[in-house]
Amino acid sequence: MTGAHSLRHLYLVGMMGAGKSTVGRVLADRTRAPFVDIDQRVVSVSGRSIPELFDQSEEHFRQLESSSLAEVGSGSVPTVIAVGGGAVLSDENRSLMKGTGIVVWLRAMPSTLRDRVDGGRGRPVLSRSGDLDQVVEALVRERAPYYADVADLVVDVDGLDVDDVVRAVMRDLPGVGPAGTGWVGDSGESRWEP
Ligand code: S3P
Repeated sequence: MTGAHSLRHLYLVGMMGAGKSTVGRVLADRTRAPFVDIDQRVVSVSGRSIPELFDQSEEHFRQLESSSLAEVGSGSVPTVIAVGGGAVLSDENRSLMKGTGIVVWLRAMPSTLRDRVDGGRGRPVLSRSGDLDQVVEALVRERAPYYADVADLVVDVDGLDVDDVVRAVMRDLPGVGPAGTGWVGDSGESRWEP
């Protein structure tokens, strides 16, 4: 059971607009776990907004994102962690998440995402080029294999509200709940109890 104890956090991954931060906050509340939003962590550590960081370079933002993820992921308190949509592109980030927690992919169709991202405002990856529909579709196509690679659980969020998504995560990860401590099970099943 030694390996199972290293799996502590609950990571939420998925595209921009999938609802990671909102769902993460509610999940953390229900499970009485702390919540960390990696984007917010990057902004508070750097003292700059995400568009400002991208103005310097995307690489600069990605470095800060990876170091924040590594720092939060190495924490010993089981934490619900919302991870920015592009972090899965890094092999190191995916290994870190796989090695330190359980990963839930909030999967959404491009049309759902497009409707939720407010025209791309505040999200440089969406606003820097061309037609928003095409940009979202291309990103979904490019990133889906990485989300699939890292995810222990997939929740299709189209048509669901926040409570529906939280319920789906808690139903499909039966260990999620207010009671209990630490990881349960040593055979790789998806159970999480903060
Ligand atoms: C990005 C997603 C954003 C943020 C940055 C880049 C991406 O986070 O990290 O704008 O590449 O998908 P959210 O997924 O929380 O919007």
